[in-house]
Amino acid sequence: MHFEQRSVTCGALRPEHAGQQATLNGWVNARRDYGGIIFLDIRDRYGVTQAIVDLSHRPELDEYIRDVRSEFVIWVKGAVRLRENPNPKIPTGLIEILADEIGIINPAEVTPFEIVDDLGTNEELRLTYRYLDLRRPVLQKNFFVRSKLYQVVHRFFEEEGFIEIETPVLTKSTPEGARDFLVPSRNNKGRFYALPQSPQLFKQLLMVSGFDKYMQIVKCFRDEDLRADRQPEFTQIDVEMSFITQDDILDLTERFIRRAWKEILNIDVPVPFMRMPFAEAMEKYGSDKPDLRYGLELVNVTSVAGHTGFAVFADAIAAGNVVMALNAKGCGAFSRKQIDELTEHAKKYGAKGLPWLKVTGSEVTGSFVKTLTDEQRVSLLSSVDAADGDLLLFVPGEWERACTIAGAIRTEVARRTGIFDGVSGLYSFHWVTEFPLLEYNDEETRWIARHHPFTAPMIDDVSLLSTDPTHARAIAHDLVINGYEAAGGSVRIHLNSVQQTMFDLLGFAREDADAKFGFLLNALRFGAPPHGGIAFGFDRLVMLLCQTDNIRDVIAFPKTTSGLSLMDGCPSDVDEKQLVDLGIAIKRS
Ligand code: AMO
Repeated sequence: MHFEQRSVTCGALRPEHAGQQATLNGWVNARRDYGGIIFLDIRDRYGVTQAIVDLSHRPELDEYIRDVRSEFVIWVKGAVRLRENPNPKIPTGLIEILADEIGIINPAEVTPFEIVDDLGTNEELRLTYRYLDLRRPVLQKNFFVRSKLYQVVHRFFEEEGFIEIETPVLTKSTPEGARDFLVPSRNNKGRFYALPQSPQLFKQLLMVSGFDKYMQIVKCFRDEDLRADRQPEFTQIDVEMSFITQDDILDLTERFIRRAWKEILNIDVPVPFMRMPFAEAMEKYGSDKPDLRYGLELVNVTSVAGHTGFAVFADAIAAGNVVMALNAKGCGAFSRKQIDELTEHAKKYGAKGLPWLKVTGSEVTGSFVKTLTDEQRVSLLSSVDAADGDLLLFVPGEWERACTIAGAIRTEVARRTGIFDGVSGLYSFHWVTEFPLLEYNDEETRWIARHHPFTAPMIDDVSLLSTDPTHARAIAHDLVINGYEAAGGSVRIHLNSVQQTMFDLLGFAREDADAKFGFLLNALRFGAPPHGGIAFGFDRLVMLLCQTDNIRDVIAFPKTTSGLSLMDGCPSDVDEKQLVDLGIAIKRS
């Protein structure tokens, strides 16, 4: 179909162009009819420009304009002129085009939802018609930010002397971490490739090869439960360096983040970032990725709670557990119903209940106040610095569990009291370090690596591996931005003997370790340099830069939380023949 090609985009015209001829190509954003005068807002990715069809001036245009509706693709040619009623809200709002010629390039059926920024439509419908959803300027903006971030990454790491190397997408399935997505092999029936959860082992092998500074923007795949900040297929900026210390990795990261925030948001991020050991993050904020834009710190009140007559506290402490407390400042007016809702929230994280006290003037009420003597009440209140109008919430339990529950309550209280809204637009950056190297998995009755099995223990803690593995800390680091884990990494084990010890600790029989990780163990025999690195969640960085809390807003064609692509309907059935070729039979129960 003939169309006259655009001379400018829909975001280009300004008052200085008045009097010139211009041709626009784009989508009809809106049509408004006023008798013989029709206003058309024409949209492309650069903006919106108003065109006017005046049928008294050009009656012959009627036949072209009659059917034009929203989302038709059209071309319009005419003279640029100043608007009588300017719209200061858009950059092209001072001008319009008086159409001399107009043509339909491609008509459009009525779209399932309006192409507007503030859309109430449910996300499922938007994802089903994702290509229409992506026409909305509010989403398009996110992809310009995303694209800009790719460029910043490449420039920054290039200037720092990094080499970008691609690693395989068809890889070997290894235990540990999340579940793998498997790909059946046709040539080797019954065998499978795994899509990489990250290029962890490859980047370590590249260090053994001597590449020294590697980076890659890389797709990773994890078959895990999805959440608002997780996708089964996501992108990392993967980084590895040789002959470095942990400080070098942290310093490089801080400079990169500073550069990205400056170039994209023109924000000067102060460096270095605060470093907080894991134990402190858990004890003060109940999370290994606390949002530090607001305070609301937890208090460990075990020593005081132990001297009260409240049996729940006494039993917890007798069992070697702790009592964590949160002073929800000014929340004394929370109703019984609101406290019940908080209790239900705590239960989702494994709490049995949520004992509470309220301070109203000189009166203290609450679920266990009757069990307290005057003296016990005073000391419990002062341990959390309670004042008139405060609500105190208590979580007894095993240390990490109790901290986690109290941390979840902290976040919920912040959400309910509007603290979150008050800090939107701000950024807080910090490190969490000194993670436990291992954690005990009760189900599997064995140790598992908290980060991954290739992370080095802290030098001071190496001896704990044989005596007290629970307390061995890792040389690991997570970058936390506004409560999101934006990046994570570690210094690696580069000695074959230590790696072997680690596999022993994780309960791999020697043959098993050889079968799964023999190539790594071999590589560590041939002169592996000390090395370490980090991987940034690329999508999460874009989320933070775009200030959205939904990862799907920054991925062009994302999956739902149940792992579906609503647009093309995958995962989907395949032809029987394909299964036969692969030697696969589906068990349909
Ligand atoms: P880790 O597993 O911590 O480390 O991942 C690094 C970063 O990737 C992001 N991320 C995700 N983003 C979206 N959806 C997901 N499902 C998802 N999972 C992780 C997070 C996280 O901080 N190989 C190591 C890195 C290393 O040690 O160098 C690794 O992958 O932002």
